[in-house]
Amino acid sequence: MSKKDEFFSHITGGYTCKGDFIILGGAMLDGEPLADAHIKVPLKTMNRHGLIAGATGTGKTKTLQVLSEQLSLKGIPSLVMDVKGDLSGVAKPGKENAFITDRHTKINLPYTTMGFPVELLTISEQEGVRLRATVSEFGPVLFSRILDLNDTQSGIVSIIFKYCDDNKLGLIDLKDIRKVIQYLQGEGKAELENEYGAMSPASTGVILRKIIELEQQGAERFFGEESFDVMDLMRRDSNGNGYINIIRLTDIQDKPKLFSTFMLSLLAEVYGRMPERGDQPKPELVIFIDEAHLIFSQASKTLLEQIETIVKLIRSKGVGVYFITQNPMDVPSSVLAQLGLKVQHALRAFTAADRKDIKLTAENFPISEWYDTENALTSLGTGEALVTVLNEKGIPTPLAAMMVRAPMSRMDILTAEEIESINRSSQLVTKYSRVVDPESAAEMLERKIESAEQRRSEAEERKARQRDSTWRGSTTTARRRTATHPVVKVLTSATFIRGMMGILTRAMK
Ligand SMILES: Nc1ncnc2c1ncn2[C@@H]1O[C@H](COP(=O)(O)OP(=O)(O)OP(=O)(O)O)[C@@H](O)[C@H]1O
Ligand SMILES: [Mg+2]
Repeated sequence: MSKKDEFFSHITGGYTCKGDFIILGGAMLDGEPLADAHIKVPLKTMNRHGLIAGATGTGKTKTLQVLSEQLSLKGIPSLVMDVKGDLSGVAKPGKENAFITDRHTKINLPYTTMGFPVELLTISEQEGVRLRATVSEFGPVLFSRILDLNDTQSGIVSIIFKYCDDNKLGLIDLKDIRKVIQYLQGEGKAELENEYGAMSPASTGVILRKIIELEQQGAERFFGEESFDVMDLMRRDSNGNGYINIIRLTDIQDKPKLFSTFMLSLLAEVYGRMPERGDQPKPELVIFIDEAHLIFSQASKTLLEQIETIVKLIRSKGVGVYFITQNPMDVPSSVLAQLGLKVQHALRAFTAADRKDIKLTAENFPISEWYDTENALTSLGTGEALVTVLNEKGIPTPLAAMMVRAPMSRMDILTAEEIESINRSSQLVTKYSRVVDPESAAEMLERKIESAEQRRSEAEERKARQRDSTWRGSTTTARRRTATHPVVKVLTSATFIRGMMGILTRAMK
């Protein structure tokens, strides 16, 4: 057998699938792709997470695009964090060119162009489906994590949430929780101390300061109603193709804390809402996080632990999480260890530190007699990558250099008119642009304070009248102000997330 034939059977044997799969590209030997040596990813192990890494311009985002397209064709929806804003093109058919025809001929894969069902989601003022969550839904554990509070301060946050639960105060946005804290330090102080214990002013001061810090990062935009139902991410179009839900996060790059908070809350919500599933033939949802270094770079230790835990657990719900970043070292090793699929595009060796990273990256791949991994890492072309996935038994497949197939959709962004037209025809945009203004804690407390003042002044009036009447011997009917009856917003208290965060906290211990 020639070396090529031997390699061919090594790849086809290593990438055999009994169940359904998607094809990512074709294997390459000595820099040349082979026809029909397809790299197949079993759908069965796509909930085992993954990493797409590589230097800038090497093809990471296009690999993500290919993955989301192929999943969509299998009826699997995805959620894509589009930090650079270069993914919206997936809604429209691509254009075939010589570069694409050439690669598809070499790997022997048919090529057609097509656009995919897309929803554009936003947490900012951009047009699209508004993503929001209420503070109540966050629950005390996650909320404290976001604020990076210590145990004492987190304890206080738990008391505040408990107080709000008991008193049916809906914490909708950050303003509400600030108001509650202020109330409990002032008018409500005695009531709180009687029933729940005292809060130290130093701790509440820290909490308030951190809430303001979060607000300054723009978090106010995504705390509120109508909160997003993550089950809306699981849709298919009339052809049975999975929706590619793109969250446009172009204006969040300089707000890493907000980004990681948002990510974690979203993962927690998805985890909380999805039923437990055993081994499934395919995932329910795949989440892609482009520019993932943004979540890890400034996340606190506790937040990282939380991300690590949820990544570990969410798999059992049939959800796969894929991180896309330049350097695999951007991802903490505890998370890295959980990633089944690895697509490593070229790395560049500019500095000594780069060379060290390349060496480490190479060591993290299965040993191969066909490649000098370290060398291969620096010599891959655009849209080429080293790959290993988990086979249906959950064992890593042989390492392969791969020519990635080309996306079927547009490799460029949508025009403003195209974006507008998608949003106009979106059912979700209509659903989530509804203005919901539930009675929130801030309003209710304001009224409580008001009516306390009212009662006080009425009592004073009464006393004055009594004095008056004893003196003048006459009764005057005082004008009675109508008492306010706060409309109680029934909270779905201790929402799923909270239950889930309890599980997480236990799991972490
Ligand atoms: N699979 C592919 N098929 C065809 N062309 C590709 C493929 N992958 C990459 N390219 C080409 O390479 C260019 C850069 O790819 P891409 O935007 O995915 O890089 P990237 O690694 O995400 O870069 P950055 O780090 O800057 O985000 C694309 O615009 C496209 O022209
Ligand atoms: Mg990119």
